[in-house]
Amino acid sequence: MLGIETSCDECAAAVVEDGEKILSNVVASQIPFHAAYSGVVPEIASRKHTEWVYAVVQEALEKACLSACDIDAVAATNRPGLVGSLIVGLSFAKAFAWARRLPFIAVDHMLAHLYAPRLAATGGGGLPCEYPFLGLLVSGGHTIILRADGFDDVTVLGTTIDDAAGEAFDKVAKHYGFGYPGGKVIDELSRAGDSGAFNFPMPRLHKGGGRGAADVHRYDVSYSGLKTAVINQLESFRVKKGEILPEDIAASFQKTAVDILLRALFNAADDTGLKTVAAGGGVAANSYLRAALAQREGLLAVFPPFDLCTDNGAMVAGIAYHYLARGDRSPAAATASSRVDGFKKKPLPRRV
Ligand code: KG4
Ligand code: ZN
Repeated sequence: MLGIETSCDECAAAVVEDGEKILSNVVASQIPFHAAYSGVVPEIASRKHTEWVYAVVQEALEKACLSACDIDAVAATNRPGLVGSLIVGLSFAKAFAWARRLPFIAVDHMLAHLYAPRLAATGGGGLPCEYPFLGLLVSGGHTIILRADGFDDVTVLGTTIDDAAGEAFDKVAKHYGFGYPGGKVIDELSRAGDSGAFNFPMPRLHKGGGRGAADVHRYDVSYSGLKTAVINQLESFRVKKGEILPEDIAASFQKTAVDILLRALFNAADDTGLKTVAAGGGVAANSYLRAALAQREGLLAVFPPFDLCTDNGAMVAGIAYHYLARGDRSPAAATASSRVDGFKKKPLPRRV
């Protein structure tokens, strides 16, 4: 299976055998082109994908020691993401499949992230992850806590009510000039910082406890309050140069940002009784998140290797194998979409 991923700023292609064995995984990052803007510029992203996608696919085939005629099926991400970027990989995959008369599978990016722990570093098999389990999907655009009963059978338990987790890292890093993308630099800075130096606030989303209206946000997260509190330190940070260390700001922010996630996740684990958590998305690379989850007694945390946390084609090819095996095919008319309805939390029934 050839998998193509162009939903944001990574131009990626991979070849995966039987949904597990990675034969090649090529990721061409556009970070240097967006760094000057401290964020992804959609127009630049789609242009770079157009320039690069052919060579990236070519390299994925070469690294797998295969040619186009050895590929059995083609998959591409078609939702959610930047539409102009998605269209590039999607159209390329459809054209490849059409030219070689191969089955084509359009894949949801978030379900692909959820699948990533089942893959392992090039050449290996994935970690065991029996359904049902809890999913923690944390990327630049999404924060989702869900119950997974199958590779495409998920129930969303909680989401963010404002910013995504990765977005909070990126915005804080942008304001402080720490670098881009923010998650990785904050993670690295934090290693030399004191996470207790600042007491940033946890959002109060479920005051009162008990069942009913006050519990509506039990599995949800919010980042706007934390983001504002951290940015409010910026003036003192500038004035008291040398006294307030960037490492301490980074570590204190990171701890609170991850603790917000963990609070909602542990609520979900307690209430559902599920004992395994599979994490995916760029923020799943975070070292404090990985360490804190590993320490939680009674919960098995399954993380993808670092290179499979962020966007890649292997997770796309991996999940697509299961659609193919089930007999699913996507129509040639499959379109790109910025959103995906299936990941909206269903409103709780009104209590009377
Ligand atoms: O999954 P991903 O590659 O792209 C999207 O689908 O959005 O996630 C990118 C996000 C960015 O916000 C980035 O800052 C964050 O993941 N990220 C991290 C780390 N590495 C990447 N956040 C926290 N800690 C990290 N080590
Ligand atoms: Zn992603």
